[in-house]
Amino acid sequence: MSITYTFLGHATHLLNVDGTKILIDPFLAGNPQATIGPDDLEVEVIVVSHGHADHIADAVSIAQRTGAKVISNFEIVGWLGKQGVPEGQLHPQHLGGGFTHEFGYLKFTIAHHGSGLPDGSYGGNPAGLLFFLGDKRLYFACDTALFAEMAYYGEEGLDLAVLPIGDNFTMGPADALKAVKMLTPKVAVPCHYNTWPPIEQDAQAWKTRVEAETSTKVNVLTAGEIITIA
Ligand code: NI
Ligand code: MN
Repeated sequence: MSITYTFLGHATHLLNVDGTKILIDPFLAGNPQATIGPDDLEVEVIVVSHGHADHIADAVSIAQRTGAKVISNFEIVGWLGKQGVPEGQLHPQHLGGGFTHEFGYLKFTIAHHGSGLPDGSYGGNPAGLLFFLGDKRLYFACDTALFAEMAYYGEEGLDLAVLPIGDNFTMGPADALKAVKMLTPKVAVPCHYNTWPPIEQDAQAWKTRVEAETSTKVNVLTAGEIITIA
């Protein structure tokens, strides 16, 4: 099995699993960090963690153009249908629920955050994402505060954990370090920082601290950088 992870800027991510491209939280057109636009990607799957614009902004246009399967919580999937994403492309899941998709098993995990949609519609509860891809385990905390149940996700034996460090809207560096201690991933990637002034952080300082206090390796990525998981 071949798996690569690409950071696309802010909190937008791309997985390539044996050629199936999975786009997580599509926000490219208005994303100050993005180096590509929403029309530059061909993807087979889109996953949306919650309803905030910096995670869902380009979901409708990319879904309509590519015909990708769109996976999100029940409320957001219903809203995307009303925005014009064909019903046959929509797959609702919800917190604690996993499903075996063509690319592997994806479980929606808890996140402590909001999920209001750009037009004010109710977006259900925000989620994190836990991917089981062959013998690899990838966790995206997405937008969340620190919470103790991360230790349970760590028990899966994580190959990669992608964590927000921006503070203000999500975990900051200190809580993200505590998250790494519970998740014990082989590799951690920081995200959701330096996009706008309220979430400016020193990711290299976070890397130094995490690598001094844990055995996790931190990869600080700029938009477009790819790491190989398997
Ligand atoms: Ni958010
Ligand atoms: Mn966000």
